Amino acid sequence: MKAIVATDEAAGTAGMTLTERPKPEPGLNDVLVEVRAAGFTSGELTWPSTWVDRSGHDRTPLIPGHDLAGVVVALGYGTTGLSVGQRVFGITDWYRDGALAEYVAVEARNLAPLPGDIDFTLGASLPISGLTAWQGLFDHGRVRAGQSVLVHGAAGAVGSMAAQLAREAGAHVIGTGRAGSRQTALGFGAHEFVDLENDALEDVGQVDLVFDVLGGDIGRRSAALVRPGGTLVSVTGPVEARPADGLAIDFVVVSDPAQLSELARRVRDGRLRMAIGNVATLDDAVAALNPTEHVKGKTIISVHP
Ligand SMILES: NC(=O)c1ccc[n+]([C@@H]2O[C@H](COP(=O)([O-])OP(=O)(O)OC[C@H]3O[C@@H](n4cnc5c(N)ncnc54)[C@H](OP(=O)(O)O)[C@@H]3O)[C@@H](O)[C@H]2O)c1
Repeated sequence: MKAIVATDEAAGTAGMTLTERPKPEPGLNDVLVEVRAAGFTSGELTWPSTWVDRSGHDRTPLIPGHDLAGVVVALGYGTTGLSVGQRVFGITDWYRDGALAEYVAVEARNLAPLPGDIDFTLGASLPISGLTAWQGLFDHGRVRAGQSVLVHGAAGAVGSMAAQLAREAGAHVIGTGRAGSRQTALGFGAHEFVDLENDALEDVGQVDLVFDVLGGDIGRRSAALVRPGGTLVSVTGPVEARPADGLAIDFVVVSDPAQLSELARRVRDGRLRMAIGNVATLDDAVAALNPTEHVKGKTIISVHP
């Protein structure tokens, strides 16, 4: 099968190549999915799980891209819950080959049925960004109606999802980003916008929840904005500064079929939309993942059978 492969960590996305790889065999409780669309998350090639398996063994040449939408074409031994011919979407295991390929073997528990009226490109854009936003707000941040939520990077893939979901949950949403992201963030549901290039972040005052996708200095300064009893949720690694009288949580998203189905329901109802940037074919994926100009939104690779 055709696949995008990475072999050199130092080379990053520039070292990716389109090549022939053996079609994977579905293992116990796996399904084999014919990939129709796949997503690549910025930073993926820096994650330790990209380069080794769970025993620490080198897993190059590896196939990146953990967001996927496609059609089940075979079941592994003992697999239940999904059937051949079913449209599915979800996240592939961080330690296994991903979905920038014609086929991928995935644990069935990491997938949910993709409704027929959601196309594969949209389906592949949702899982990581949508589940990260959902889990950060509801599972870890425990957001409630009436609370104030500061969403960093609110025009980006995760942040735009978090802004929409927090607003629908009845929170007051303050989005942040670069100056040029103001209208996009407001369009995704932020009530207010803080331009991190020109405004003073500290003018936001106290909030119940900070959802941080930026980390670094912004993450450290955000801890002081959490009011007593509030929470700082980060998806950029261990929290470097904690709220004086609140919780600090960093987490890595997990696939959750029930939550995926909730996201799909909201998309179908017109209550949730995704910031999709560039859509390219597998043949053009290496160029699309090495853009010469900055692309806003998630890059999706469309894979045709
Ligand atoms: N832990 C997890 O489970 C998990 C899951 C998903 C993602 N992540 C991580 O979360 C981060 C965000 O992912 P994403 O997919 O949402 O990325 P993204 O689509 O690139 O969104 C990031 C947003 O933040 C903005 N931004 C970046 N740096 C900024 C700065 N210094 N000042 C102001 N705005 C800035 C970007 O604006 P521009 O487009 O103008 O740069 C963009 O709007 C990544 O580091 C990713 O690896 C973690």
